[in-house]
Amino acid sequence: MSNKTCHFDVIVLGAGAAGLMAAAVAGQRGKRVAVLDHADAVGKKILISGGGRCNFTNLGIEPGCFLSNNPHFAKSALARYTQNDFLDLVNSYNIDWHEKTLSQLFCNGSAKQIVNLLLDECSKAGVVVHLEKHVECLSHDGVQFTIKTPGTTYQAETMIVATGGLSIPKLGASDLAYKIARQFKLKIVEPRPALVPFTLNKEESLFKELSGVATDVITRCDKTEFAEAALFTHKGLSGPAILQISSYWQHGKHINIDFLPVQKTGWLSDLKKARPQIQLATALNQHLPERLAETLADRLTVEREQKLIDFKDADLEAMEQHLSNWQFNPNGTEGFAKAEVTIGGVSTDELSSKTMEAKKVPGLYFIGECVDVTGWLGGYNFQWAWSSGWVAGQSV
Ligand code: FDA
Repeated sequence: MSNKTCHFDVIVLGAGAAGLMAAAVAGQRGKRVAVLDHADAVGKKILISGGGRCNFTNLGIEPGCFLSNNPHFAKSALARYTQNDFLDLVNSYNIDWHEKTLSQLFCNGSAKQIVNLLLDECSKAGVVVHLEKHVECLSHDGVQFTIKTPGTTYQAETMIVATGGLSIPKLGASDLAYKIARQFKLKIVEPRPALVPFTLNKEESLFKELSGVATDVITRCDKTEFAEAALFTHKGLSGPAILQISSYWQHGKHINIDFLPVQKTGWLSDLKKARPQIQLATALNQHLPERLAETLADRLTVEREQKLIDFKDADLEAMEQHLSNWQFNPNGTEGFAKAEVTIGGVSTDELSSKTMEAKKVPGLYFIGECVDVTGWLGGYNFQWAWSSGWVAGQSV
């Protein structure tokens, strides 16, 4: 196969959220930009995000909603390109959107509108996007980066790596960003799945019978807590409250679930006075789905037939405490195949927080999910992609 060489000012690796944003911004500043991706289409994760409606940002973006070994790192990019800046861009394309719970913003129509917006911004800026480009080898001679793909060699003085994390390999996720970081002797924070369902061990397998049951809870891990819905699955636990807390969990740790976050202490004793003859499961079913109420009552009582009158107030209070602090010991997660994001990645110690450029390798940038910055569920990760992409695009 004949090999041609193309020269650009900037090569962006990865045509996802961060890469397309950075490319458009750099292109609009007059740079000749090429985006390379090994997939056959751009923005595949954007297309499936938010149930096909893309939760593209969150009105409550704050640095505290991002996990990183350096909690201060994300501040600069998030302040320079904010959720309102992205919202202005969305509005300028007349894309209708709505606010869901917890300040999450979604397209009214389809996530495709966000991909089209990014492609339009790139095309207006003269950015070229080359798909199905598999990086065979990558080098740097001190001035230029050379990226060899079958049939074409690309050269540029600046390279932005935006190839994302390891989550959802079937959508094209790869470890290219980490390989490049290692090639240039940059540190990596061990990547692990985040925003991911938990799997439960044998002792807790009774809960697997609740597969499909969901309820509003508070999840806790150490000092972090989230109030949202939890969902029992045939493998363990999922739902937004579980996905959120999974980012704070590590092997060996337990999590706690408050199944009755709005009930006041003493409510069971009060109910005993009002309805002494009802069983615990019936009492719990006032606030919880029936199957869950029965399972929890079975675990708290010796015999299902016992009535509230059969328990002392102190026993009922102990049950309340158990219900508001139920301990689960996940034996793992459903892994990168089901994780919405990857926690860890290229160490922020290696990058400028203002530009995302590698301190040791001028001209080399890392943006988006491949960097050790991970947001909460709810539009935070796309905002990190937009903000980190924008600052890199402004800097190259
Ligand atoms: P992203 O993964 O988007 O893009 C990386 C690009 O690099 C891809 O196009 C890939 O093909 C390419 N690539 C990878 N390896 C390569 C290689 N070796 N060679 C060439 N190209 C390569 N976030 C949010 O804020 N709101 C939401 O609603 C959702 N919803 C959601 C749903 C699901 C199911 C998932 C899996 C994830 C989300 N997310 C989300 C998270 C969000 O999708 C994610 O954080 C961003 O897409 C990250 O953007 P990046 O551009 O960094 O990576």
